[in-house]
Amino acid sequence: MKTFVLASQNKHKAEEIKQILGSDFEIKTMDEVGLSNFDIIEDGNTFEENAAKKAVSVFNEINMPVIADDSGLCVDFLNGAPGVYTARFAGENASDSENIDKLLSELKNVPFQERSAKFVCVIAFIENSVDNIKYFKGECSGFILDKRRGTSGFGYDPVFYCKEYEKTLAELGENIKNTISHRYKALKAFSDSLK
Ligand code: IMP
Repeated sequence: MKTFVLASQNKHKAEEIKQILGSDFEIKTMDEVGLSNFDIIEDGNTFEENAAKKAVSVFNEINMPVIADDSGLCVDFLNGAPGVYTARFAGENASDSENIDKLLSELKNVPFQERSAKFVCVIAFIENSVDNIKYFKGECSGFILDKRRGTSGFGYDPVFYCKEYEKTLAELGENIKNTISHRYKALKAFSDSLK
């Protein structure tokens, strides 16, 4: 069994990551390694920079293998925004619901075909040295609906529509989401690299 610390305070993400990686991996949360109040400022210009910053900060504290994920939503009509600002699109400490409201207002009256978007996830992995960071990337393409549908998942899931299933990620539920998501694809690349 391989053991890693996950450099994230987001409990939904931690659950998803544990479910995706399965029983070959033991994922310790920051709480479990005594870093519950450890705050990392995400001020990078790219998902890679932010993921690396989280991984390095946690590795420097505990000196054991760390994975960190940085993810976000890139909307074509908004020229790739909110991107690295996804979590704080509606302002510092904005709730998921406030962020969705802001996104829907930015896309008001934009026709469905022009509402294409993708979720991006970058995993940064440090095994034993901050001089050797490995990156794994996954993307999930879809469209932003003009209203919420579904209740599962988190973040922007209720408005992110997957054409092949004709459902939002929040309607699909975690079992299916975790076989198609950006996070699944990045984690799959990560776990394949360890085989
Ligand atoms: P991070 O914690 O800096 O990676 O922030 C990611 C932002 O993207 C947060 O606002 C999340 O809610 C959103 N996000 C990331 N992954 C997903 C997902 O799988 N579904 C919905 N929203 C997501």
